[in-house]
Amino acid sequence: MVNPRRILVPLALALMVAAGGTACAPVRSAIAGPTSSGAPSPSATVTSTPTPTPPPTSTTTGDFDKAALSTTDPTSYWVIVNKLRPLSPVSYAPSDLVTVPVAHDNPAVMRSTAAAALVQMFAAGAAEGAGEMQVQSTYRSYPVQRRVYNGWVSSRGQAQADKQSARPGFSEHQTGLAVDISTVPLKCALGACFGTTPQGEWLAANAWRFGYLLRYPADKTTITGYEYEPWHFRYIGIPLATELHKEGVETLEEFFGLPAAPDYAH
Ligand code: DAL
Ligand code: ZN
Repeated sequence: MVNPRRILVPLALALMVAAGGTACAPVRSAIAGPTSSGAPSPSATVTSTPTPTPPPTSTTTGDFDKAALSTTDPTSYWVIVNKLRPLSPVSYAPSDLVTVPVAHDNPAVMRSTAAAALVQMFAAGAAEGAGEMQVQSTYRSYPVQRRVYNGWVSSRGQAQADKQSARPGFSEHQTGLAVDISTVPLKCALGACFGTTPQGEWLAANAWRFGYLLRYPADKTTITGYEYEPWHFRYIGIPLATELHKEGVETLEEFFGLPAAPDYAH
């Protein structure tokens, strides 16, 4: 159990901590105990507030304006990153990263709004009987993602690596809006069986209430390009998450009418 408290620290600390993080990936993360989860997490100062650029035109479906936010601007909560849509610039790093005051098996660093929503989601999950959750991986810079991806290529070969790990510049984790979640105590971490844990089931049903989306569903691998990842959630904001839930649409690609991204262009 963790009793998070908030201590302001410079953004530099958050970035340093983030750089040391492992990922959606490292086998160590999947098998290690919650070594750091007992430590209270400091939270960093937010240095700026992201202001998504308003689009020039607006495309409305029913009452929902699908053009309200950009899907290409990396600072937008609606940015869509997949194998055909790298971050631009490819080395993008968010300016409002904070340390998330939640239980964590690895450093928990996200954009401030996503971080606040995650705190609420974990608290609601526990209050509603899903059990305790912790962060397995959050923000990953370009160099960290390169290290993670290359690790998988070395251990499993490129074809398998591409099914489970994004190439640097192509990962949602680089937006600071994605989080890999595991249980406390650790069980099925970064495994398909996480989806059958009380926490995994609760998240799949309720994450939308907090603005999060289960980004890589089991039945959409040909659209997302990735194997089922019941632990990977992407912050998209409550209005969009609610609309996807209401319409029963599972992927951002389908909702925005974008091409499936099963593979890289080259
Ligand atoms: N595991 C996801 C696809 C990533 O590496 O971003
Ligand atoms: Zn992930």
